Amino acid sequence: MTAPSPGDGRTEPGSSSGATSGASAAGGGPRIGPGAHILVCGGAGFIGSCYVRDVLARRDGTRITVLDKLTYAGDRANLAPVETDPGMAARFAFVVGDIADPTAVDPLVAAADAVVDFAAESHVDRSILDPSAFLVTGVVGVRVLLEAVRRQTELARAGERRHADGRQMGAPRFLQVSTDEVYGSVEEGSSREGDVLAPRSPYAAAKAAGDLLVGAYRTTHDLDVLVTRGANTYGPHQHPEKLIPLVATNAIDGAPIPLYGDGLQRRDWLHVTDHAAAIDLVLRRGDPGAVYNIPGGNERANREVVAAILARLGRPWSLVRSVPDRPGHDRRYAMDGGRLAALGWRASVPFADGLAGTVDWYRANEAWWRAAKDAAWDDYYARQYADRLAASTEAPAPGALAGGAAGEEAPGTAR
Ligand SMILES: NC(=O)c1ccc[n+]([C@@H]2O[C@H](COP(=O)([O-])OP(=O)(O)OC[C@H]3O[C@@H](n4cnc5c(N)ncnc54)[C@H](O)[C@@H]3O)[C@@H](O)[C@H]2O)c1
Repeated sequence: MTAPSPGDGRTEPGSSSGATSGASAAGGGPRIGPGAHILVCGGAGFIGSCYVRDVLARRDGTRITVLDKLTYAGDRANLAPVETDPGMAARFAFVVGDIADPTAVDPLVAAADAVVDFAAESHVDRSILDPSAFLVTGVVGVRVLLEAVRRQTELARAGERRHADGRQMGAPRFLQVSTDEVYGSVEEGSSREGDVLAPRSPYAAAKAAGDLLVGAYRTTHDLDVLVTRGANTYGPHQHPEKLIPLVATNAIDGAPIPLYGDGLQRRDWLHVTDHAAAIDLVLRRGDPGAVYNIPGGNERANREVVAAILARLGRPWSLVRSVPDRPGHDRRYAMDGGRLAALGWRASVPFADGLAGTVDWYRANEAWWRAAKDAAWDDYYARQYADRLAASTEAPAPGALAGGAAGEEAPGTAR
């Protein structure tokens, strides 16, 4: 998929640019406006729940239905701020179900002006232990969603897509939430949206397959589809399997902190509220068929990030253990964000503030992450780290390695 030229948006009756509830007409306005009904798949997870909370908190008339399978990574408690607020709850519905199940998906897509797909198995390490669920959700699930969108688009084009009260509906817009990992390891420079995809983990390969399917449905069926590729995301409500919450929660407990290899893998960090806001901007204003990178603008070596978390918590570096690296571990991700910037977007959360706030959230919300570190977690943790920790060595002190200037970005005062 490439960025279409301006004006590529379809204008035929019944397309997403043909106006009905929430789907605004062409002519510079948003394609999905206030009052839209959005189906959010995977909305109980880390980024999806932030999207739901932030969009409904605007109280602009948007309605949201979440479809979520509630895997180990999905937690309905992430949506409590919405479900306990009468004003937001009135515009919100929650359905437990699988995006790979057409009987769950079809009626929900039929009622939606737009579909945003966050649903995925999202942890690279688990994709190495067992990739099967990654492929079912990331490939079959995306195909089921696209087929439902295709059918609704055909109905809309025939003028037969209608609300319960008989008003005509436009075709649904579909946005697939993807990742910088589809580009593979980028030793130098930054990936652009048209670059060849070179995924190197089963997780990234499943995500790339989803992106390619979306592009194929655009080409074959002229659907109103979009893809966003977000950078490494951090913030409250992220499952403790991921780097920042793993380090923060182990540090709170004074437990050993596994750090892969030399810890000099470089990631570009994007705060979850910025990621959610960028997705919403692309959904409402993106060009049909286009892919948008969402960089964070905060490239850091992993060991720098670990050191900053420890500094915030007032914990010693001696907790950190250098463990055998993840196989095929990508060294660096970096993306060019020019296309998104042209839509008027800029990240708003400085990394130091975002990381301090995130660490503080984990310190203040122990009940949330202790519930995620349940018996199944213990199993996973033992499979992933027991042998590695047994073979671990002392991690070189911060600043001892080139590029590992730990503490350089330490947010706030150590406590
Ligand atoms: N976390 C990141 O750093 C990051 C960065 C860029 C892109 N992404 C992408 O953003 C999306 C969301 O990531 P996240 O970190 O919030 O993930 P997450 O693991 O926290 O949440 C995933 C959600 O999807 C649900 N889900 C899983 N399989 C499902 C299925 N078959 N049907 C319905 N629901 C299902 C889970 O229950 C969970 O609520 C993913 O597609 C991921 O690839 C994540």
